[in-house]
Order: sequence, then structure tokens, then C-alpha cells
Amino acid sequence: MTVQASDFRFLADFMRDAAAIVLEPGKEYLVDSRLAPVASQAGFSGISALVQELRRSTHSPLAQKVIDAMTTNETSFFRDAAPYQHLRKAVLPALIEARRNERALSIWCAAASSGQEPYSMLMMMREEFPQLANWNVRFLATDISQEMLQRCRAGTYSQLEVNRGLPAPLLVKYFTKRGIDWQIDERLRSAIEWREFNLAGRAWLGLPSFDLIMLRNVMIYFDLQTKRSILANMRKVLRPDGYLFLGTAETTLNIDERFQSEQAQSSCYRVRAA
Ligand SMILES: C[S@@+](CC[C@H](N)C(=O)[O-])C[C@H]1O[C@@H](n2cnc3c(N)ncnc32)[C@H](O)[C@@H]1O
Repeated sequence: MTVQASDFRFLADFMRDAAAIVLEPGKEYLVDSRLAPVASQAGFSGISALVQELRRSTHSPLAQKVIDAMTTNETSFFRDAAPYQHLRKAVLPALIEARRNERALSIWCAAASSGQEPYSMLMMMREEFPQLANWNVRFLATDISQEMLQRCRAGTYSQLEVNRGLPAPLLVKYFTKRGIDWQIDERLRSAIEWREFNLAGRAWLGLPSFDLIMLRNVMIYFDLQTKRSILANMRKVLRPDGYLFLGTAETTLNIDERFQSEQAQSSCYRVRAA
């Protein structure tokens, strides 16, 4: 299958409007490989027929399937050592000390993909900060993809996925074998509030404030203006002494100077005092 230029332009506009994701010319191969299966599963003769239907309504189950297919959901348990090391050694101990009177913590994982990141954090907190068991810990995990959120809620991973980064003792302790897959304990699944949230959307006012936000490996898909607006919104929902983690290849530098690097290696940022 090949993507016609007019269909590609329509899809690029659709993905920019729906998710702020930038599809530059040259990414036709990506559209082709991601949408050909969607088109055939939905009974269309090809991508052109799918686009024709999408032109009729950009707020339909088909539109959501296109968003699901066009987002890149690459993730793994304990992805990158540095941020987890910094969380373990510095950030969580500092937050636990700062919140010792209120005994409450609020965490947001803002591009959760299939759930490995929030579950890694939760397992780490259970293992290394057992005192949090008696705290009021609010853990929100969001993504724009409904398909990914379904996977998060199910908490079921293939052998290949658990082989990527999950230490064997944690697999044994927190997962149950279900056929050929592994499912994480119900207690961990229900400790996280899973919600659909478009980082480029307008629902920010409905969010509480957070002590710790993970915004990892998602800003790379956005243009500069979208990155700026997301970081400005992040400043509003991050408590003044809170922490923001980006992906290790991402930065706030030259995008939002109100953030300052707290630890470069782990892409950990804090808001500068005014
Ligand atoms: C590459 S994954 C990153 C997963 C995880 N944070 C990590 O670092 O391993 C990027 C995720 O961002 C989500 N995403 C893309 N655009 C988004 C948007 N506009 N709002 C919210 N999530 C979005 C995708 O659905 C995908 O699951």
C-alpha cells in the first residue's frame, strides 16, 4: 500500500489537531505501516478508503483507532537507570521528608503508554519506601491512547516485555502467570488511577497539583509551540517544590527557562524560585 499525498496531508493535519503529533513529509512509510492493518481490520479497501471515512467524522471510534495506531508506544520496565536512581536516592527521600506532616504524595505519569513506567515506580516505592503504605498516595497515570489505557488497566505483559528491564525478584513477587503472559497484582493495578488525557488538550483545569510528574519520551513528538504550552501548564500543576522528569534525551532548555535542571543525567527539573 502507498499513501497518496492528499491523504497524507489530511492525516498529518488530523494528528496535529487531535494529538499535537507532528508528521513531517517523509513519514509516509510510517503512516503506511501503521494504518494499513487498521484499514484492513476495519474492512476498508485501503488507506484512501479509511481516510475518506475519517474525513466524514474526526470524532469517531475509527478516529480513535487512527490515533492509537499513530502514537509511538515504545516503553519498558525501569526504562533508563538514571531517573530511577535519582528518584530512589534523592527525589523520593526529599519529598517524604518535605511531606512528613501531611503524609500525602501526589504523582502523575503523563504518558503512561502500556503502563510499565507507572508500575515500575509503584514497585520501587513499595520495595524501598515501605513507610508510604500508611500515606495517602495519589497516583494518576494518563495517556491519549485508549488502547494503551486498556493495556495499563489489564496490567498483562508478554514474556518479552517482562524480560525488558523487570528484575526477576519483582516478577516473582508482584506478577502471576496467566497462560503465556504475566499479570501484575490487582493491588498495584488498583493503586493507580488510569485516565485518558491529551497533553495538548484543554482539560488541564480539572487536574489537581502534583509533587512529582513523569513526562518522559513524549515531547519529542511535538513542535516547539506545543512543548512550550505543555511546560507552562506543567508549571501550574507542579507544586513549587515538586519535580518534573523528562526523557533522558529531552530538555526544557531553550523551551521554558522557568524550569531549571536539578540533575542533568536523569533529566530531572524543578521550577526556579521567582
Ligand atoms: C514513547 S511512549 C513513552 C512511554 C513512557 N513515558 C516511557 O518513557 O517509557 C509515548 C506515549 O505518549 C503518548 N502520547 C502521544 N501524544 C500524546 C498526547 N498528545 N497526549 C498524551 N499522551 C500522548 C503515546 O500514546 C505514548 O503512549
